[in-house]
Amino acid sequence: MKTKWWHDKVAYQIYPKSFKDSNGDGIGDLRGIIEKLDYLESLGIDLLWLSPVYQSPFVDQGYDISDYYKIAEEFGTMEEFDELLEKAKEHHIQIVMDLVINHCSDRHEWFQKALKDPEGEYADYFYFVKGKNGNPPNNYRSYFGGSAWEQVPGTDKYYLHMFAKEQPDLNWENPRVRQELFEMVNWWLDKGIAGFRIDAIINIKKNLTFPDCEPDGPDGLRSCVHMVEEAEGIGEFLGELKQETFAKYDAFTVGEVFNMKESELEQFVGDDGYFSTMFDFAPHILTEGEKGWYDAKEAEFTEWKKTIIDSQLRCQGKAFLANIIENHDEPRGASRYLPEHAKTPDGAKMLGTISLLLRGIPFIYQGQEIGMVNCRMSDVNEYDDIDTYHQYQAALDAGCSKEEALEACCRHSRDNARTPMQWDDSASAGFTDGIPWIKVNENYREINVASQEKNPNSVLNYYRKLIRLKKDPKWREVFAQGEFIPFLEKDEQIFAFARRAETAQVVVLANFGIREQTVDLMRELGTVSEQMLLGNTERKLEIGETKVTLYPCDVVVLSVK
Ligand code: GLC
Repeated sequence: MKTKWWHDKVAYQIYPKSFKDSNGDGIGDLRGIIEKLDYLESLGIDLLWLSPVYQSPFVDQGYDISDYYKIAEEFGTMEEFDELLEKAKEHHIQIVMDLVINHCSDRHEWFQKALKDPEGEYADYFYFVKGKNGNPPNNYRSYFGGSAWEQVPGTDKYYLHMFAKEQPDLNWENPRVRQELFEMVNWWLDKGIAGFRIDAIINIKKNLTFPDCEPDGPDGLRSCVHMVEEAEGIGEFLGELKQETFAKYDAFTVGEVFNMKESELEQFVGDDGYFSTMFDFAPHILTEGEKGWYDAKEAEFTEWKKTIIDSQLRCQGKAFLANIIENHDEPRGASRYLPEHAKTPDGAKMLGTISLLLRGIPFIYQGQEIGMVNCRMSDVNEYDDIDTYHQYQAALDAGCSKEEALEACCRHSRDNARTPMQWDDSASAGFTDGIPWIKVNENYREINVASQEKNPNSVLNYYRKLIRLKKDPKWREVFAQGEFIPFLEKDEQIFAFARRAETAQVVVLANFGIREQTVDLMRELGTVSEQMLLGNTERKLEIGETKVTLYPCDVVVLSVK
């Protein structure tokens, strides 16, 4: 593949509402992020993705934008944003914005105008479709539950919303809509941001016949995800989006893409793809329930490992994925993917090492670098997430008890990752002087940045070493461009892979099992260990060693020849 400027970068996601509050209102803000730039630089990150900071009524926590050109009051001002952009550059950090263009907020001026004049030009910015005999045009279910159609007041028309009813879908078939969106994208790129994370983008192409479908649930509805799977021709929109915007700036773009047609991989993220990269959601999908969170299964090590290896091999030489263990829509990776005995700081280091040294660009989600874990809530009202309410109700409707429904949320809720960043052991974990908008995880006295700063063996200091290693001029190329070579693929304890480039070869070994195990490098790869580059264990390996013994939760990175 062609080498791109972002191939050797490390990215970090901030969920602004929960990162750092500077003014005591209990909500994180831009000034808070500015205050933490030294911290982010010390971690070694290059790209900073901000979940949406635009003006929004926050029905879906900012993923419902009412003005693309304004910063949400809760987060600060445009002047502060400009200051963040500039100061971040001084810290060698570039900003990546969230781009939510499948839908906007029902408070957006376009939608308000459309409601006022349902026959006028703004109605065509959305999908205003005639109902059938007093019912919605068809039986699509929105991602957040219930019909994907809402009646336009005073008319026999309905508007489409694949997410909440407060998030009307934008009509990409209308060239004026595309033009408005492209202008807005370029306006942000002109400011000097590095690029965008692109939200829910696969949904922009609809099957315009809106057919009645075979229900897939007792509510008589069918998930609108099927429309996405069936709709043809998204490429035209995405190609145009790229040409009119990103390509002109050599911007970095990462797509949130679910349900892409497999054959379209290279069109999406190949050398000349619509996007630079897209997240690898394969491990996430593996642990997703068929019906919802209530029937989701636990991650099993060998299956989880196989899923990651398959993704890596599928993309080798063709595409470059963005690797994550968690984000703002997922529970914490350390709670989800680590076996029970490995839910420890060493386990978190192991998981981080795998995620950061796979082929692709790693995204660290705030708090991952200190090993933050899921937060138990004792009542559904402690959550502040539209999707969690929907999943709770879906569990009850399926016959679960309240306790079971709550348990499903404790395991899977998006709010697991949205609780405040744990900075220190003072009240509210040093996140705010006020009352935090959502509960702080009770474990903040044990897991926080300040205490880990002082401990050379902390998860935080390990992440620093890990990132330093990845970016070390000596190894940078092998980690960025090197081939991914898995081995011991069937092994039930060890996650093992090599990265090979012309200049160097490294091996990553991690023991997820409960027994000690010896790996014979000569037998597996025909190599011997030359140097231990990193590990979470004190034991030193001899140069020229062929056998490496790993105790449970040990992870090592070796250079080999
Ligand atoms: C994406 C976002 C998620 C949001 C949804 C609707 O999946 O990551 O948080 O709820 O899109 O915008």
